[in-house]
Amino acid sequence: MADVIITRTVAELRRAVREFRRGDETIGVVPTLGALHDGHIALVQEARKRAGRVVTTLFVNPTQFAATEDLSKYPRTEEADLARLREARCDILFAPEVDEVYPRGFATTVSLEGPAVAGLEDRFRPSHFAGVATIVAKLFTMSGADVAVFGEKDYQQLCVVRRMARDLDLPIEVVGFPTVREADGLAMSSRNRFLSPEERGLAPLLHRTLRGIADAALVGADLEAELAKGRTAIEAAGFRLDYLEARQADNLAPLGGVGLAPARLLVAARLGATRLIDNIALAPARN
Ligand code: PAF
Repeated sequence: MADVIITRTVAELRRAVREFRRGDETIGVVPTLGALHDGHIALVQEARKRAGRVVTTLFVNPTQFAATEDLSKYPRTEEADLARLREARCDILFAPEVDEVYPRGFATTVSLEGPAVAGLEDRFRPSHFAGVATIVAKLFTMSGADVAVFGEKDYQQLCVVRRMARDLDLPIEVVGFPTVREADGLAMSSRNRFLSPEERGLAPLLHRTLRGIADAALVGADLEAELAKGRTAIEAAGFRLDYLEARQADNLAPLGGVGLAPARLLVAARLGATRLIDNIALAPARN
């Protein structure tokens, strides 16, 4: 079996992609910050189903971290990531240095409205999505991929990327993949490793609360009242809640008069020093 081709520069990446294109292969891309877990590997496997060859990008993008968020603490585990990508039969790893992505004089940022200013993550991480959208647009054009797979766990990010690809006419299909969860419901995340054993025990409450609200609303309970109960339960368990909201699933606008479907429940809360996010569809249990 061919090994993963490791590329560090845009020229190397393009050369490797060009070789595959010569054989008429389609290309899928899975953008990541590294510290790969089973959730990422599921994205690579989904990309394998949708394209002939898969590029995984591993880049801890400094422009999406605020000064208050410790970029240097972000886990960097390239050797282990590579081993996992080998097992998942990824074809190309793109792991550039910061200077390759943001050379001296870099001066362009994607400017966003719509789902990027929905008052969810953007309220707590105001510069985050400009950094995400800019790097994702660059990774799309660097890889020239036909399809990109993103986890639904970062649901606002998925909406922002979809909107951006559509608005900028980027010739790529953006696919959302359901959140991969631990057996107790906790959404897989590179940040889970920072939870103490006690916090790890509490963390699945976020998913249980979302599920409880969805199930109650689906049998006719008042959604706002259920959200209020959920907020109280999360805070009583010792989380510091950033938000717990129900929004329209496609653009993250408030539900207003549009009813329950298709809607999304989204939550963000801090447990000690770790910030956790999660979301589910306001629909019968699926994940
Ligand atoms: O979700 C992530 O891992 C990152 O935000 C992404 C999409 C790789 C952009 O840096």
